[in-house]
Amino acid sequence: MNVLGTGAFGVVYLAKHMETSKYYAMKMLEKEKIVKFKQIEHSYYEKKILCGLNFPFCVYMKYFFKDNVYLYYILPFIPGGEMFSQLRKMGKFEEMSSKFYAAQVILALEYLHACELVYRDLKPENILIDRNGYIKLTDFGFCKLIRGRTWTLCGTPEYLAPEIILSKGYGLTVDWWSLGILLFEMSAGYPPFYASDPMRIYEKIVSGKYRTPTHFSTELKDLITRILQIDTTRRFGNLKNGVLDFKMHKFFKDIDWDGLLSNRMTAPFLPKIRTAGDTSYFENYDEEKIKESPICLYEEEFADF
Ligand SMILES: Nc1ncnc2c1ncn2[C@@H]1O[C@H](COP(=O)(O)OP(=O)(O)O)[C@@H](O)[C@H]1O
Ligand SMILES: [Mg+2]
Repeated sequence: MNVLGTGAFGVVYLAKHMETSKYYAMKMLEKEKIVKFKQIEHSYYEKKILCGLNFPFCVYMKYFFKDNVYLYYILPFIPGGEMFSQLRKMGKFEEMSSKFYAAQVILALEYLHACELVYRDLKPENILIDRNGYIKLTDFGFCKLIRGRTWTLCGTPEYLAPEIILSKGYGLTVDWWSLGILLFEMSAGYPPFYASDPMRIYEKIVSGKYRTPTHFSTELKDLITRILQIDTTRRFGNLKNGVLDFKMHKFFKDIDWDGLLSNRMTAPFLPKIRTAGDTSYFENYDEEKIKESPICLYEEEFADF
């Protein structure tokens, strides 16, 4: 089977529906690993959230099931690959491209936040490019319904908001921080707070100091500065105008927000998809050995799945 991606708890395969011959992405999570890493609750959230999602820039659940060893989420197959691969291939994106992608991320986060969902894992690996060049957020493994604040430490070092690192209670605004990191990384080719050791990354993040490449436009610099605010009461997205502050910002002046939602804007890059199950935009991974068991493992823990 063709592996599309791997993560901490599972593997994502390209799967073909036998009756319809349609292709899907199949995320397989090993129950044993979920239990070992204390992610039972997160796996339930992920399933529930995927089942409820209905937005043009997010994947959603087509089918789900479980067997003796694994949990399975069947999602639409998004053939253009990760934004991560495209970004590494190009080095960095033109600001026009960053803008096109960031605008969709803003609409996706606006949607999730309206549902009281915090996403918590925004990064180029979790943003897929669809055949029309538009994006789809995938990986709702850390997504959670929150009313008020939460405390769990999760996410990816470079993209963590300072309030998460400082173990303060935090809210939806951590997603806006990671949008700031994403905007920087897309246009620079590297993230603003970077080191080989995570502890050094955290020190840099909580210091709030970073250097902007000289090629960034004034508008982009201004926008990133307004987002990467340590003080959450000053952070863009969390001010009294909410998401409107992004939509009205100079950097996004040529974004037609309604047009974007209905696919009327031209995408900066269109993947060349040759056949329905074309995986050429995904990295090559070694086949994973699929485990079997004669008895149902962790039956109780996942009884309600
Ligand atoms: N719907 C999808 N279509 C195509 N590839 C996908 C899809 N969902 C996930 N992938 C690939 O699998 C990788 C891992 O999936 P993800 O849900 O992010 O798992 P993890 O929680 O392990 O990071 C993604 O980064 C992406 O490359
Ligand atoms: Mg992921």
